[in-house]
Amino acid sequence: MLYSPMKLKGLELKNRWVMLAMHNGYTTDNIISEREIAFYEARAKGGAAAITVVMGVNTTGALKGMLNAETMQDWSGMERLAQILHQYDCKLFVQLFHCGRNERARDRDNRPVLAPSAVASSIFKNMPKEMTEQDMKDTLQAYEEAAKKCKACGADVIEVNISAGYLLSQFLSPIDNLRQDNYGGNLENRMRFPLEVLERVRFVLTEDFPISVKLSGAQMIAGGYSIEDMKLFSKEMGKRKLADVIAVTGGWHESPVEQISYHVPKGGYGFFAEAIKSAVSLPIIACNRISDGETAEEMLEKGICDLVGSARGFLCDAEFADRIQKNVPFNVCQACNKCVQRVLKGEELACAYNPEAGNEHIENSHRKIATKKKVLVVGGGPGGMMAAKKAADRGFQTTLCTKENKLGGQLNLAMLPPGKRDISKFIEYMEYELRMAGVKLLFNTEVDADFIMEFDPYFVVVATGSIPHKPDIPGIDGKNVYLAKEVFEGDNELFARLRKGKTVIIGGGSLGLEIAGFLVEQTTFSNEVERFAKNALEGTKSGKMERIDLHILEQSPFLGTELGSMSRPVLNELDKNDVKMTTEVSVQGIYSNCVLVERNGKLMEIPADHVIIAMGSVPADTNFVVKLQDERISYALIGDAEMVGDAMMAIYSAYELFLRMYIA
Ligand SMILES: Cc1cc2nc3c(=O)[nH]c(=O)nc-3n(C[C@H](O)[C@H](O)[C@H](O)COP(=O)(O)O)c2cc1C
Repeated sequence: MLYSPMKLKGLELKNRWVMLAMHNGYTTDNIISEREIAFYEARAKGGAAAITVVMGVNTTGALKGMLNAETMQDWSGMERLAQILHQYDCKLFVQLFHCGRNERARDRDNRPVLAPSAVASSIFKNMPKEMTEQDMKDTLQAYEEAAKKCKACGADVIEVNISAGYLLSQFLSPIDNLRQDNYGGNLENRMRFPLEVLERVRFVLTEDFPISVKLSGAQMIAGGYSIEDMKLFSKEMGKRKLADVIAVTGGWHESPVEQISYHVPKGGYGFFAEAIKSAVSLPIIACNRISDGETAEEMLEKGICDLVGSARGFLCDAEFADRIQKNVPFNVCQACNKCVQRVLKGEELACAYNPEAGNEHIENSHRKIATKKKVLVVGGGPGGMMAAKKAADRGFQTTLCTKENKLGGQLNLAMLPPGKRDISKFIEYMEYELRMAGVKLLFNTEVDADFIMEFDPYFVVVATGSIPHKPDIPGIDGKNVYLAKEVFEGDNELFARLRKGKTVIIGGGSLGLEIAGFLVEQTTFSNEVERFAKNALEGTKSGKMERIDLHILEQSPFLGTELGSMSRPVLNELDKNDVKMTTEVSVQGIYSNCVLVERNGKLMEIPADHVIIAMGSVPADTNFVVKLQDERISYALIGDAEMVGDAMMAIYSAYELFLRMYIA
């Protein structure tokens, strides 16, 4: 079903994949840039039936770096974009967007912040001004003008954003819309302004032109609007012929429940799409975490939706739709949320696992020239794999050596914590890409200066990664002390040992939290039957099985700072599993039954039968490069070998090395 066509009014969509809206921050001078056009063209070429481009309706509504219909003087780029997408039989959805109160104050450049009421967002904080009657009239006019201009430039569908906490969804909210006039109070009043906007848009587009509405299934905040409210709202839109298709997403940015991170199961918000579908006879686009063919097909087959929307699936792999159809490995979105974290901070859109996203315009300027010059990549982790891919793309004869018997390096451990299994698919995808690009892969191969000199490369990429940091703490070499890596690689015997007694994790950064999550999963029984059977086998009394007793110690005041907004669900999960966490402690020594710490000037003993060291990493030994210098062999250190960071940093340091390297 996924690759069957579908009619949307008079418009034929070649398959069921709609690339959802993603603000990218790429716009400068308020025209659609060559960079944006190349970004979208790659995704049209890659099989999307439709692509959504976001357009601020006016200066107050546009985010920093967003196209702005009010001030855009030159629409020729938008016309060109529509023509280019049409060449690939891909339709152009333009989403009319007004952020309302949802932008950080520092990105607003004194532009007024408008909202139905003077209620600040818990994320963006800045206090908006309650919209006056005149503000509302101006906003209606802005939607009307924007719709007219977008239709004229060749858009096939106009989408109106009423989701995620942006202006029109704020009107729907009983907790954010406190107006005393006809636009606040009961649902009928709260729906009034969004419906007026849609009426103005319908008026200028006329009957036959498709309108899409992007809706949050519910606000998902205590006291906010519910799915029942959205069913009524959808019915009203249907009755008044104001929408031809509804894209149903999860809740708001502010919702305490995860919306799009890897903590949300694949297709996890399909139940909202299904509920709206049951209320109206309009086609429905399901959204959120639909990043693989199986989930998409299942949702269509079950009648949950008529179209499947994916934003990050297309971000992570421009050929997402085509590769799924051809059944070849693709770069699956890890839902790591680096993209959305960047955009919410006013930075440009980028994908942790696909550095080509947003750089297509530069990639397109490379000529494909093969050279006999040899590039040797030392290391098969994320940086090494990306370096080899790009070296081969540029035409170098590329060899990658790894001392391991498989690719992936530390990603093989990174995939172990809960929710991270898809990282294995990234490794599979990279291996496929490397083999397709003709990269020679040498496994179980230790590289030293002599090896390199004999290999006689034109250029060496040193991507040897990092090793665990083991600080000089008394007792750190004790029998009861393990490195996080050893635990990740551990067997059932080790997990059984850790389950007995108390385990302290030293280090509450991302590694410490992930090892804790991993241990909770490894040592907890997923269901009661399994637990009962285990108890019976071990001859223990039936009843509650002890959970693993974990205590995380962190030196700084905060836990998991590198995880950004992702730390919240991870910490919640650990909290639910009774994991203790203590910050601002300095470890003084490790003993057979405790860890001695200093906190607020006082010494304390934290009971510990086992201790896990999760104190980050340091670059692996790269002394052999000194000899490369003596021998006049050019090289670059990348990733952790240069400076310890996360997978994204390693991937980007490899990518940037080759991005602007033109060969002749
Ligand atoms: C970086 C980023 C920017 C986004 N910007 C918008 C936007 O401007 N308008 C909108 O309606 N949704 C926006 N979204 C939400 C997506 O359209 C989509 O609903 C959401 O990401 C869930 O789909 P996915 O799991 O396939 O990514 C954005 C999402 C991301 C990741």
